[in-house]
Amino acid sequence: MKKTILLSCIVLLVVIAYSCKKNNSTTSISTVALNLPQTPYMYYGDSNAITVMPQYYDSLNNVATLGRVLFYDGHLSVNNSISCGSCHKQAIGFSDNVALSTGFQGQLTKRNSLAINTINESPLLFWDGREDNVNNLSLRPLSNHVEMGISDPATLPAKLAPLTYYNQLFINAYGDKNITLDRITTAIGSFISSIRSTNTRFDAYNLGNKSAMTAQELHGFSLFTSKYNCATCHTSTGGGVVPGGGGGFYGSESFKDIGLDPNYSDLGRGAITGLASDNGTFIVPNLRNVAITAPYMHDGRYKTLSDVIDHYSHGIANSQNLDPILKDASGNAISMNITDEDKQALIAFLNTLTDYTMITDPKFSNPFNIN
Ligand code: HEC
Ligand code: HEC
Repeated sequence: MKKTILLSCIVLLVVIAYSCKKNNSTTSISTVALNLPQTPYMYYGDSNAITVMPQYYDSLNNVATLGRVLFYDGHLSVNNSISCGSCHKQAIGFSDNVALSTGFQGQLTKRNSLAINTINESPLLFWDGREDNVNNLSLRPLSNHVEMGISDPATLPAKLAPLTYYNQLFINAYGDKNITLDRITTAIGSFISSIRSTNTRFDAYNLGNKSAMTAQELHGFSLFTSKYNCATCHTSTGGGVVPGGGGGFYGSESFKDIGLDPNYSDLGRGAITGLASDNGTFIVPNLRNVAITAPYMHDGRYKTLSDVIDHYSHGIANSQNLDPILKDASGNAISMNITDEDKQALIAFLNTLTDYTMITDPKFSNPFNIN
């Protein structure tokens, strides 16, 4: 009798050990601390922007480290199939390489995935600026019926509770392993707030390395700022303030209609404000990393930068809210008639805005080793 009990115990232990091993092998993670820059750090997009004092760096690092794991975890979608990282891929500047991304049930998103790059500290997020708080932002893809399908995000903490690899991450970040929705969204917000491209050849040039850009690229820069007035919308602000300095080329917080279509199939900003004058306008996108974030525009209609330049050169439509900069004296759409040589120079310049450090930095990579 004793023997049988002992034997059953051993069998039971082996079964438990085996199932534990199986679980671990599908969810083992390797996390890397984020080590945020040792400069006062601003939360991106938070309406109560705070400057983080050095004594808080460690805890902020731990919150962002947790956020990294959450960002790449498929358990954040209702059927465990899609993570934030599925549509925001590090190797291509946290964008997606398709016009419309595929959600948890194979349905397509309405718009082109935006490259995550929080260098601009712009409070307005998404193509139509519908969100102004980076911590609240995650609730939108999480609950979106096409993207991740968690129709009631309040159920998410209970869904994640059985995942033991979160215990230590929550303890490090918040002092105990209690999972709450607020902690989840703050952690993801902190992670994406640390994704900022500052290490580009364009920055190196502006910081004094005059050999960082070629003559053709510098010519492209001057065409961008003067001859073709691209910088009127794709403004260069933040010089000196942002690490790397020298200008951002991110969209201002302005929304513009650049004459993609004579009639609107997507009202863009207008659907948010309800103002007819905002119809067909979209946020001026950040051009950092643009050379690797194809396809382009809110609907991903252009496959290459060459196609984008062709639009400005001779494809601008007379749409209702076409921006005045793109109209002639009689109110019609202009053709910039960009020569082939100028086009190549503009593209060469745009290529200097790629941050190869950010797209290969292990701190931002997928921490899951799925085997
Ligand atoms: C199924 C694909 C998909 C998933 C999953 C997804 N996103 Fe997105 N994301 C998009 C698309 C598409 C947009 C642009 C939508 C728009 O502007 O209307 C976007 C926009 C964004 C932006 C705005 C960037 C800016 O500069 O305005 C951020 C930040 C972002 N997503 C973060 C996340 C986070 C965090 C998650 C996970 C909680 C996530 N996304 C999950 C497709 C996805
Ligand atoms: C009137 C303001 C304005 C001017 C001038 C302008 N842009 Fe844009 N640009 C925008 C807006 C707004 C978008 C996004 C439009 C959309 O998707 O509906 C955009 C999109 C782009 C994109 C695609 C970015 C992406 O991630 O999809 C590139 C590249 C670009 N512009 C480059 C240029 C260049 C080069 C010039 C000058 C030849 C220029 N722009 C002039 C406002 C402007």
